[in-house]
Amino acid sequence: LPASLVDPFQRAITYLRVSVTDRCDFRCVYCMSEHMTFLPKRDLLSLEELDRLCSAFVRLGVRKLRLTGGEPLVRRDLTTLIRSLGRHLESGALEELTLTTNGSQLTKHACDLYAAGVRRINVSLDTLDATKFRAVTRWGDLNQVLRGIDAALAAGLKIKINTVALRDVNEDEISSIAEWAHGKGMDLSLIETMPLGDIEEDRTDQYLPLSLVRARLSQRYTLTDSPYRTGGPARYVSVAETGGRIGFITPMTHNFCESCNRVRVTCTGTLFMCLGQEDAADLREPLRASRNDDLLVDAIREAITRKPKGHDFIIDRRSAKPAVGRHMSMTGG
Ligand code: GTP
Ligand code: 5AD
Ligand code: SF4
Repeated sequence: LPASLVDPFQRAITYLRVSVTDRCDFRCVYCMSEHMTFLPKRDLLSLEELDRLCSAFVRLGVRKLRLTGGEPLVRRDLTTLIRSLGRHLESGALEELTLTTNGSQLTKHACDLYAAGVRRINVSLDTLDATKFRAVTRWGDLNQVLRGIDAALAAGLKIKINTVALRDVNEDEISSIAEWAHGKGMDLSLIETMPLGDIEEDRTDQYLPLSLVRARLSQRYTLTDSPYRTGGPARYVSVAETGGRIGFITPMTHNFCESCNRVRVTCTGTLFMCLGQEDAADLREPLRASRNDDLLVDAIREAITRKPKGHDFIIDRRSAKPAVGRHMSMTGG
């Protein structure tokens, strides 16, 4: 099938990220404010509506679908949606159906995910120190997440660990996280913190450029650029000593917008053409206006013509305001 969503910069849109809930059972300090006001449940698209929406994108050429949040697994009956979307894997229309999760609910859901057709998931984990973990997530239990990871591996899921590089918090731990992950056969992606939404802390204090992390890692390990790609923004290196891979997601030091292939939908049906821009399109109204998808498809196509060239993130003490007002949990990363 040809990709039929192409933006004004000739980028084919083949990757849809759907935030199925803005809620999360953690409150990571770089992601959320301690006191978040979440959307009232009545504003959310139902699971059936989310299914219709995702399926419309699949018909329009989306090949990779990632459910995010918030924490996707806190949405009740999410596995019902995943099982239903699994039909697009069986028909061959979809190449990958996956999830980004904080791992807190994986002991419960790992087997269902595998049975629904999920083969690979990303688990966010910023530290292997239980005390630091509680501080970063504000109350999360590291052991619960580690048990979740083991349950997912045992269920047959491949895992990539996502670690946000945080100055003074986990910068001394990056190599031990890599060794731990690689020892379990998991890749690791490191992420630069992005200025999305108001938080209590100063992002300039948290920000750690990955160019620096990479330079430090290369003093310790033999790193070789890898051709491995997932369709996401990470650029990988292989680590000779561990036999594993480390990905670098560098929106701040090395913007990857030029090869962007993705858009995002929130749990209320708002389509964001870029993670770092405010412009959006409402898909809920055209979705609800009729039983067939003509209006919805028109709204999606129109929105893609407005996809911007890139974000304009800066982390700077003088510009105290975040680049965009909404938190990552709203747009789904
Ligand atoms: P893979 O399929 O494993 O490559 O996943 P992914 O990296 O696409 O998704 P994941 O949910 O693991 O996201 C990891 C980090 O990359 C998150 O912090 C995302 O916000 C960030 N990210 C993903 N896509 C984009 C993007 O288009 N722009 C920016 N700036 N960040 C992105
Ligand atoms: N900047 C960078 N990454 C973030 N995440 C959440 N908020 C931010 C932010 N402001 C990460 C989570 C998760 C991924 C989906 O996004 O840790 O790994
Ligand atoms: Fe694409 Fe926007 Fe992400 Fe840049 S920030 S890679 S343009 S979605």
